[in-house]
Amino acid sequence: KIYPVIMAGGSGTRFWPLSRKSRPKQFLALAGDGPLLASTIGRLPPLAKPKETYVVCGPQHAAAARRMVPSLPKENFIVEPCARNTAPCVGLAALHVAAKDPKGVIAMLPADHHIARPDAFRDALSAAAQLAEAGSIATIGIHPSRPETGYGYLKLGPRLAARAKGKARFQAHKVERFVEKPDVVTAARYLADGNYLWNSGIFVFRADVILEEIARAMPVLREQLEVIRASLGTPAYAKTLKRVFPDCPSISIDYGVMEKSHRIAVVPAEFGWSDVGSFAALSDVREQDHLGNVAEGDAMVIDGRNNVVLATKARPVAVIGLEDVIVVDAGDAILVCRRDRAQDVRKAVEELGRRG
Ligand code: GDD
Ligand code: MG
Repeated sequence: KIYPVIMAGGSGTRFWPLSRKSRPKQFLALAGDGPLLASTIGRLPPLAKPKETYVVCGPQHAAAARRMVPSLPKENFIVEPCARNTAPCVGLAALHVAAKDPKGVIAMLPADHHIARPDAFRDALSAAAQLAEAGSIATIGIHPSRPETGYGYLKLGPRLAARAKGKARFQAHKVERFVEKPDVVTAARYLADGNYLWNSGIFVFRADVILEEIARAMPVLREQLEVIRASLGTPAYAKTLKRVFPDCPSISIDYGVMEKSHRIAVVPAEFGWSDVGSFAALSDVREQDHLGNVAEGDAMVIDGRNNVVLATKARPVAVIGLEDVIVVDAGDAILVCRRDRAQDVRKAVEELGRRG
């Protein structure tokens, strides 16, 4: 049995002007087949039941998230009073699952990824769940193709006994080291080394195991979680959460726990994974024309290659004679950007913030 927990509290500033405070990345239909959050939950059955599936998000997005995934019971939306990155998010989710099932196997899933082959994904997740049942923190590793600095890297250790059920077989490894977001020189070294995989951002562990690891790596957080745990299921919960959670350290589970853990295992897998990191990544997850252009809505590209042009249905957008350009018309704001600068879209958001 697996309890999927979807982490849906990120802000995502690289998709402006489509993403706004009220409409973060996970709510956008970036891959073309519905909002990323809805797809994340839609690809789980038959591996998990809706009543055992949770979403963790902020109060400003809870209503929209519930509307987006009406299949989940209302009480399965765990609402954080404020965003404290993923370590407190994971800890809070573990408390909720542990209250029902102390050794329950949790699959922490990012809400904003695209997966091209859901059946292969479910096979990998089942394999990871078997490792988790035995006490490991199981990750899913992706074969790296570039020296990406925005990912975590998993150094492969010794092979673990093969224990795969079902049709797919996976060769799991112990993880010797977990390095979150290395600099570009280090990332290039890892790529050349060949013994490193990208961390997909999916973690599978038992509730009791992750709480133990949090206690070891982040003892203060564990104490804060303990205060919250004592109020779980009582009328004091909401007030306690509001008081304690904002004081939790704002740090990701990767830096806070994974880099320090010695119980990490990895299931190497390929299932058409993309974390849809920027508009440039839409070429990997969307249909392209024969010249590599992605065009949506009333968009047209004339004599151009490798452009991403997202228009609304309200007005046409034409791009002529350009290569490697991103044009996004959101109706009330427009982005024009060189494709190799897609990561810098967040600078526009920062600048808008300064203008108030
Ligand atoms: N509930 C909640 N609360 N969710 C959050 C919060 C929070 O405060 N902060 C982030 N999230 C969600 C995001 O929406 C996303 O779905 C997921 O948690 C991961 O957070 P990111 O901020 O996107 O992490 P990252 O992309 O920098 O790095 C992680 O993913 C990489 C793969 O995409 C790490 O796990 C890396 O090691 C990994 O390679
Ligand atoms: Mg991410």
